[in-house]
Amino acid sequence: MSNIKAKILSVGTYVPDTVLTNAYFESILDTSDEWIVSRTGIRERRVVDRDNPMSAAEMGCRAARVAMERAGVPADKVDGIIVATFTPDNFFPSTACRMQADLGCTGAFAFDMSAACAGFTYALTVANNMIVSGQAKTILVVGSEVISKTLDWSDRGTCILFGDGAGVVVLQADGSGRQDRGIHSCYLSSDGTMGDLLKLGAWGEDRFLRMKGNEVFRHAVRLMSEASVRAAAHAGMRIEEIDLLIPHQANIRIIQAIADSLSVSMDKVVTNMDRYGNTSSASIPLALEEAWTDGRVKDGSKVLFVGLGGGFTVGSAVCVM
Ligand code: ACO
Repeated sequence: MSNIKAKILSVGTYVPDTVLTNAYFESILDTSDEWIVSRTGIRERRVVDRDNPMSAAEMGCRAARVAMERAGVPADKVDGIIVATFTPDNFFPSTACRMQADLGCTGAFAFDMSAACAGFTYALTVANNMIVSGQAKTILVVGSEVISKTLDWSDRGTCILFGDGAGVVVLQADGSGRQDRGIHSCYLSSDGTMGDLLKLGAWGEDRFLRMKGNEVFRHAVRLMSEASVRAAAHAGMRIEEIDLLIPHQANIRIIQAIADSLSVSMDKVVTNMDRYGNTSSASIPLALEEAWTDGRVKDGSKVLFVGLGGGFTVGSAVCVM
């Protein structure tokens, strides 16, 4: 077995300047701030400028520059860029290739992954495996989404939920032989039979994000709870040993139900959907940055990431920071 561990050196994020509050939705739809806050926990979200929208690659680059600066990693030391997104700029070239060009990471491979809101955990898993196997030393793991362009603004069941944003972690091989720090486990699962509950087509009438919210909700609690237990078990840890749970930020009630089912108190759970809504693959790095900046993530903290997205896709990972 490899004695290399992949360490998260840094995180960087970017969110657009435009803030849409719940009051905006009250003005265009039959909804209310009270309904949105009580059912979702969301108060506002950021969106790209509708007339001059920023791309997933542009937002990803802004977040990547922050992460690379914080890690002290120059462009020529990046071996790979893996972008999780369901809102790519093009089918090809990939968002990752666009980022590689803009960042000047000339020696890096680059590709996109599609796992919707579990995308960050999927990209982290692939990057971790490439590093542990010795195929790469330093990888940018990116979640970047321009979800606002996929929304039907007359569908109150979906358009109130999502926001745009990007987050990047610099994942690097720790060759020091220390086995205590870094990613200790990753777990992935998928269930394509539930694909129709949450989907976004490419063309025509299917080009808007559609969701059977209450059914997704029910499965989300069960699947993310199970994935959390599995990642902890693979890491040889009990859930009680986890210092911080950073779940995908879809809905505060889903997160509370997961915390309940795991018997984790909410003061160990990072939430920020009140300010960003559901930013899909960007939500975990956005929450990680917040917790790292305000001191909740410390040297040696045991952090559990868990996400679920359309597909269905489910992913989790335990990292000792
Ligand atoms: N304002 C007011 N009423 C609304 C709104 C709204 N914005 N949206 C829906 N309603 C109404 C519905 O029309 C329905 O009315 P009816 O009873 O008259 O038919 C009623 O509220 C209840 O609707 P539900 O869909 O059952 O409401 P629920 O409590 O389930 O909340 C929500 C909806 C917030 C979408 C919730 O189901 C949810 O968060 N689901 C999971 C989302 C998720 O986890 N997504 C995963 C990842 S996303 C990805 O991968 C891209």
